[in-house]
Amino acid sequence: MSISDLFKPLELLHGPAMRSRFMLAPLTNQQSEFDGTASEFDLDWIAQLSQGGYGLIQTCATTVEAGGIAFARQLGIHSDEHLPGLTKMAATIREGGGLSAVQLHHAGHRANPLLGGVPAPASSRTLPGIKALRTEEVERIRDSFIAAAKRAELAGFNGVAVHGAFGWILSEFMSPHLNDRTDKYGGSIENRARLTIEVIEGIRRECGPDFQIGWRLSVERYGLQLEELREITADILNRELIDYLDLALWDSAQIVREGAFQGQSMLGIFTELPRRRVRVGTAGKIMSAQRVGQLMDEGCDFVLIGRAGILQRDFPLQVEKNHEYDSPKLPVTAGYLRKGGLSERFINHMRGWPSFVVPGSI
Ligand SMILES: Cc1cc2nc3c(=O)[nH]c(=O)nc-3n(C[C@H](O)[C@H](O)[C@H](O)COP(=O)(O)O)c2cc1C
Repeated sequence: MSISDLFKPLELLHGPAMRSRFMLAPLTNQQSEFDGTASEFDLDWIAQLSQGGYGLIQTCATTVEAGGIAFARQLGIHSDEHLPGLTKMAATIREGGGLSAVQLHHAGHRANPLLGGVPAPASSRTLPGIKALRTEEVERIRDSFIAAAKRAELAGFNGVAVHGAFGWILSEFMSPHLNDRTDKYGGSIENRARLTIEVIEGIRRECGPDFQIGWRLSVERYGLQLEELREITADILNRELIDYLDLALWDSAQIVREGAFQGQSMLGIFTELPRRRVRVGTAGKIMSAQRVGQLMDEGCDFVLIGRAGILQRDFPLQVEKNHEYDSPKLPVTAGYLRKGGLSERFINHMRGWPSFVVPGSI
């Protein structure tokens, strides 16, 4: 696809179209207030992004329950107290011309007790001395995802992105390694996928006809089985349960390392599935105009920009201006990030990411 075609609208199943093929990936940045309300730094970051040409901007992972917290200063959507800040964020994105989604997150067994988190494992074997969630507790968490989506709608977001990646609760339940339940949420892959499907179906039922649902999926590690996740994805696409699938790859060029698809492109085994009207995109080291164009040719409808978007807030506009655009080389100095408009809290968060900030730089 030519670079100029990246800026043609992309229709979604529900609600308005994306104005471009660029989606901002969810990026935890630990700059909210301790109670999960949006801080001036959250609003500033969103204001910068809103002018960047993105078709859709996702928030960082946002807690659907106070007990589901993983990170200090994580954004929250589990209380009406969060609404004023979230409403400002949604309005800012809308005024910039992009669509918006809150990434709905519950940390599952990795909820952090030091932050008020209540570890919520799928299995009694995962954490010493902590029993698996009872069925009613799983249902409560499902309902918290749905209530959070309604709150996102009330705040004026176009939709939500359901976090099913990186071993957090929905991905934990998918994993035969982390889920040995014998109730309706464990056992067969259909049962292990039930929590995800009930969350998605509940949001569709409770929110309005224009409300958009994305689903972020990671397909490896955490004991996840690629073959069965591909089957579940095929079913979700075939039933058009979501507006977009976001493949949470760390490298969009990744090759499958083992199993039935060994040697094939990880992306390819999902882009080749019939997707009906659902849009499919990937994240993973997308740092240049050329790479975005290639991924469209490999079957993506859109791309998710992560680190390149932290380095350059208006990555899509840079690509539009310069069809040879390439991100600055990593690592960068803290000073570079500060000059670009990142807060000290965000910069400190980035110091924890390998090879991103020059160690000791000020
Ligand atoms: C600073 C940082 C924070 C992240 N936070 C989240 C998050 O809140 N939720 C999530 O699903 N993924 C998160 N990720 C993963 C990114 O969304 C993305 O999938 C990954 O970084 C690969 O894309 P990239 O190579 O363009 O950075 C984060 C990544 C980074 C670098």
